[in-house]
Amino acid sequence: MGREKGPVCVTGGTGYIGSWLIKVLFEQGYSVHTTVRPDPDNKRDLSFLTSLPGADGRHKIFRADLSHPESYDAAIQGCKGVLHVAAPMDFEDNEPEAVVTQRAVDGALGILKACLIL
Ligand SMILES: NC(=O)c1ccc[n+]([C@@H]2O[C@H](COP(=O)([O-])OP(=O)(O)OC[C@H]3O[C@@H](n4cnc5c(N)ncnc54)[C@H](OP(=O)(O)O)[C@@H]3O)[C@@H](O)[C@H]2O)c1
Repeated sequence: MGREKGPVCVTGGTGYIGSWLIKVLFEQGYSVHTTVRPDPDNKRDLSFLTSLPGADGRHKIFRADLSHPESYDAAIQGCKGVLHVAAPMDFEDNEPEAVVTQRAVDGALGILKACLIL
């Protein structure tokens, strides 16, 4: 394996696109800062991420939510790049579209701000 690269932050690490990106980043020798949504009871099984080949010693998992844009700061700090693929999905229409869209916009703006500052 070549020299270690990164870290790269991947938001929405539990998602379809996010988890594939993480897998490919490890394959390419990057270290990764993954964000997943807060899980107060710590019950969520993240072994599909932590057991990825290449994850050992190269993977840090952070808790962040798009509703709290500043929650991404810690994961982004020190990163060479950010792949922002966390996205609010509301297939059951539990919330008005405008609310979901605003959450996505605010989250993305917070992440961009963190990229500029950190
Ligand atoms: N899948 C595709 O083929 C495809 C193609 C083109 C573009 N895209 C775009 O790529 C992005 C990701 O798609 P995907 O298929 O990977 O979706 P996904 O599997 O539903 O993943 C969405 C991710 O966002 C996280 N998330 C949802 N609400 C959040 C919140 N409030 N705060 C923080 N994280 C939150 C989810 O966390 P939880 O696991 O906790 O819910 C999950 O990790 C979307 O913008 C989508 O439109 C996808």
